[in-house]
Amino acid sequence: MENLPLEITSAERFFYGDYLILLEGAIEEFLSCLQMIRRYQVSRGQRDPIASFQARIKSAESMRAKLERQNLPITAHSALQDVWDAAGVRLVCPFVQNIDQTVSLIRQIPGVQILREKDYIRNPKPSGYRSYHMILSLPLRFLEKAPEHPVWLEVQLRTIAMDCWASIEHQLKYKQDIANQALIVQELKRCADEIASTDLSLQTIRDLIGGPGKEGTLCGF
Ligand code: GTP
Ligand code: MG
Repeated sequence: MENLPLEITSAERFFYGDYLILLEGAIEEFLSCLQMIRRYQVSRGQRDPIASFQARIKSAESMRAKLERQNLPITAHSALQDVWDAAGVRLVCPFVQNIDQTVSLIRQIPGVQILREKDYIRNPKPSGYRSYHMILSLPLRFLEKAPEHPVWLEVQLRTIAMDCWASIEHQLKYKQDIANQALIVQELKRCADEIASTDLSLQTIRDLIGGPGKEGTLCGF
């Protein structure tokens, strides 16, 4: 059987138990829809809106810590029902406009349920973090009986430039005991703002070069 390139150790197998199948299924279902979206866009003469993607199941260690922080029962059931990022997919797009296009196509996936959307691109976090977040659920068609609760999946969409900033900032967060913390936070925020401005310039260049770039609709066949 072909496996997803997901990092799953015995710790996750032990913690999530049978629920692991649901989490893997949710990711697999979403990635299959995503492939369709990408092919659809390319078939319409558009460029592929996705430069790269990553999928992950939250490690047992981080999930336990999150449940504990939120005073929730430390169980796999609670991890799936009360926490919405046990399964996660990150989509990295070349241009900012690809994010809106892809979000609008994701909203059109048949049977998709959207619990929450957070637009940290139009409303960046105080840190400077930018991304578009969706918590969604897709019907798990491989099951005879649907699971009792939706299996939530966190989808993060960002540009290559936003992803570069978020990865570096995340790495730097591990270095906590630094004297000039305030200056570093301020400098990181400045970098994020400069990156956002560069993203807009790149989008403008892309628009000047021309070619197709309208929002997609899956009903246009
Ligand atoms: P979490 O408990 O972190 O999931 O918070 P939340 O449920 O309020 O979700 P939120 O939308 O704020 O952020 C979820 C995810 O976005 C995080 O797990 C990170 O992957 C990413 N994220 C949010 N803020 C930052 C940030 O300031 N820097 C970086 N590098 N990533 C961030
Ligand atoms: Mg999270």
